[in-house]
Amino acid sequence: MRRMAIEFSARIRRIPTYPVADGYSLPDDVAMLASNESPDPPLPAVVQAAQRALAALNRYPDPSNSTLKRALGNRYGVPTSRVAIGNGSCDILLAAGEALLEPGAELVYAWPSFSVYPHLAAASGARAITVALDDDHRHDLDAMAREITVATRLVIVCNPNNPTSTALPFAEIAAFVDTVPRHVALIVDEAYCEFNLLDDPDSTLDLLGSHPNLVLLRTFSKIHALAGLRVGFALCGSEDFPRAVDQVRQPFFCNAAAQAAAIEALKHQDAVAERVERAVVARVEMEAGLNALGIEPAESQTNFCWFDLPQEADEAEVVKRLAERGVLVRAGKALGRAGALRVTYGTAAQNVRFLDALGEVL
Ligand SMILES: Cc1ncc(COP(=O)(O)O)c(C=O)c1O
Repeated sequence: MRRMAIEFSARIRRIPTYPVADGYSLPDDVAMLASNESPDPPLPAVVQAAQRALAALNRYPDPSNSTLKRALGNRYGVPTSRVAIGNGSCDILLAAGEALLEPGAELVYAWPSFSVYPHLAAASGARAITVALDDDHRHDLDAMAREITVATRLVIVCNPNNPTSTALPFAEIAAFVDTVPRHVALIVDEAYCEFNLLDDPDSTLDLLGSHPNLVLLRTFSKIHALAGLRVGFALCGSEDFPRAVDQVRQPFFCNAAAQAAAIEALKHQDAVAERVERAVVARVEMEAGLNALGIEPAESQTNFCWFDLPQEADEAEVVKRLAERGVLVRAGKALGRAGALRVTYGTAAQNVRFLDALGEVL
C-alpha cells in the first residue's frame, strides 16, 4: 500500500528550525559552552523547593502563578497584574508573536540576534524587518527607529544581545523607548541583564511607569541556573500584555516544580551577586586568553563571548575539532554570522580547557 504523507500547514514550511546545541547525550566530562547556561548548579535550597513540589504532582500547578507573580512583583516593584510568566521566556516571546502578529503586520528586530525571533514572523505570516548591527556588534537603534511604520506591531531589542554579547547603555535604550509609538509593543529582551556592568540591571524598571507599551523580558534560565525547569517572566508597562499572552496559551504553561524553584531562587539575591562576580572573572580571563591567541572578542556584557575566527580558519572544522577535545561551542553561521564563534563562560577549568583546545586547533 502506498504511504500517504501528512499534509502540514504552510506555516510549518516557513518556521525555521531552532539551531539546537549538540552534546546532550555526551559523557559528563564535556565542557558544555554552547547554550549560555550557568556552569554552577542551582542552590540546594532551590532544588529542595522543586523536590517538595514533586510530592503534590497529582494536582495541576497554580494556573495564575499567583505566588510567583507576587514574589516577582515584590522584588521588582511591579503590580502582579503587570507580570507575565512563561514556560521559559521563549514561551512569552512565541505567545507575543501569536497575540500581536498576523499577515500584513510587521515585526522589527536586529540581526544577528536571538534565534527565536525569526520564528515569530514565520509562524504568524507577519513580515520580519531585520536591522543590521553596527560595526561593534551592537543594535543600531536609529536604524531600527526608521523601520517603524504604520504596519509595525512589535519591536524587539535584545540588550545585552545574544549572540554578540554586546550591550547598549541605559540612556540609549531609554531614548529609544521614547521614540516607539504607544500602540507598538516594545519587548526589551533582558535575558542577560544581570551580567551587564554598564548599568544597574534594574534601571529599565523605571521606564515601565511611563511606557504602557514596554515589556521587559527576563528569565530564570541564566543567572538563576534553572534552564532545565523552564521559567521566564515579563515585567510590563500595562496589564494588556500579560492578559493577551495568557489568552493565547494553554492554562497550565508553568509547571509546579518550576514555580516553586523560581519563588525560592528569588530569595537568594546574594547567590545572584556571586554568580555575576564569577562570570565577570571568567570574562576577564577569557578575554585575556583570546587576546593571547590574537583574537579580539566583542565587548561582552554577558556570560559568553563572541568573536570572529582568523580568516583562514574554517568555522565548522574548528567547532568539530573543539568537540573532539570535549569542548562544545556554537558556530556563528547558524546564529547569523559565518566565521564567528559564540562561547559560554564555564568554570575556570572549563575555560582553560577551551582556550588550550582553541590554541591547538588554530
Ligand atoms: C536573548 C535570549 N532571550 C530569551 C532566551 C530564552 O530563555 P528561556 O526560554 O530559557 O527563558 C534566551 C536563551 O538563550 C536568550 O538568549
